[in-house]
Amino acid sequence: MDIEINSQEDLKSAAVQLLDFAGDEKIFLFEGDMGAGKTTFIKVICEALGVSDLVSSPTFSIVNEYLAGTGKIYHFDFYRIKNIQEAYDIGYEEYFYSGDLCLVEWPERIAALLPEHHLKVDIQVTGPEQRMISLSRI
Ligand SMILES: Nc1ncnc2c1ncn2[C@@H]1O[C@H](COP(=O)(O)OP(=O)(O)OP(=O)(O)O)[C@@H](O)[C@H]1O
Ligand SMILES: [Mg+2]
Repeated sequence: MDIEINSQEDLKSAAVQLLDFAGDEKIFLFEGDMGAGKTTFIKVICEALGVSDLVSSPTFSIVNEYLAGTGKIYHFDFYRIKNIQEAYDIGYEEYFYSGDLCLVEWPERIAALLPEHHLKVDIQVTGPEQRMISLSRI
């Protein structure tokens, strides 16, 4: 499914559409270039799920945890991961297979460790505020 975004305001309805499309899928993998809007969209998704604490990029840790009305949310950013061992060290399996929602930026950095079934969220920059968000259940 493709969602056309014309301004950041459109992200709210896109988040609702994404959550509907995701069904019971718990692993969301966000792909797109640096600055495409992965963190920005994750923040809006978290707001839609009732997270009240600030969602920012997990710059200093690979994973941040938020509490939503629906349960825990784990937000990963693997951009700065140095090697696969680091993912084992943080105990990625306990998060991925916890049944809690996992929102993953830069999943390609840990390609070998990704769960087979997931929701792929691809964000393409099509203008200053315009984006094309492509969703696929894999
Ligand atoms: N429609 C839009 N959706 C998302 N971000 C947008 C949009 N329009 C403009 N922006 C801006 O683009 C930037 C996106 O930055 P963001 O940190 O979300 O990207 P990112 O994909 O997480 O980057 P990184 O790979 O560095 O983690 C923000 O400054 C945001 O305000
Ligand atoms: Mg980011």
